Amino acid sequence: MALSTVVVMRHGESTWTDASVNRFAGWVDVPLTERGRAQAAHAGALLKSAGLRPDVCFTSLLRRSIVSAEIALDAVDRLWVPAERTWRLNERHYGAFQGQTRPAMRERYGEELFSAYRRSFDVRPPEIDAASPYFQGHDARYCPDGLDGADPSQIRTESLADVVARLRPWWQARVEPLVAEGKTALIVTHGSVVRAIKKELEGLSANEISQVNIPTGVPLTYEFECSGRQGERPRVIGAGSYLDPDAARAGIAAVNQLGSA
Ligand code: 3PG
Repeated sequence: MALSTVVVMRHGESTWTDASVNRFAGWVDVPLTERGRAQAAHAGALLKSAGLRPDVCFTSLLRRSIVSAEIALDAVDRLWVPAERTWRLNERHYGAFQGQTRPAMRERYGEELFSAYRRSFDVRPPEIDAASPYFQGHDARYCPDGLDGADPSQIRTESLADVVARLRPWWQARVEPLVAEGKTALIVTHGSVVRAIKKELEGLSANEISQVNIPTGVPLTYEFECSGRQGERPRVIGAGSYLDPDAARAGIAAVNQLGSA
């Protein structure tokens, strides 16, 4: 029976999750703050203390994910491992909310609809206008990867259900085979994507996941077992576990605060 670990982590604090800015980023490619870089370095130190040595790293196409991964890997001396970047690990596309402040959107749509847009499972924010400076449809990064019929350049908004749907083919094609071999994978992604992974691996309901917020820069580990028999998929053992529960609690409170500011 092979055992392996998948470490899932939201990037460090970005310039738009800084409480003084408080804007929806989605696919807008904003950088980390110095605090976000320090969070990524602490995440690497946590991996080292836990004896976790990633064999492979997966990130989104956004710099806050890529740079967080590189800082964390450097801290555990695994900067050299293979890295794969995919739009399927991008934050959910926030549609017309991208670039807007959370207070302005709450004011415009009211508390109930604002909360539904941010945390429900199957409600999409209003679509972004292709003329918006926060639309990425003409960005060379976004082109079909052949895993399914999806064309990311045509995406105008996403719900969490849409994120789950774009993750599944990728997870089965790229993560499960490595886990089945007993490899340790580091996935550095975004808040809604961690929520999508958590929902899938822990079998949470749409209502349960709507109550979940994800801290920036705190590694969340999942253990898997696999018999090694040909074609058998690895099985997750229990729920995810944060390597620094205190930092996770503080980070979750900060996300709650952003949403109610
Ligand atoms: C963003 O895309 O702005 C954040 O990563 C997620 O924002 P939220 O916590 O308001 O969904």
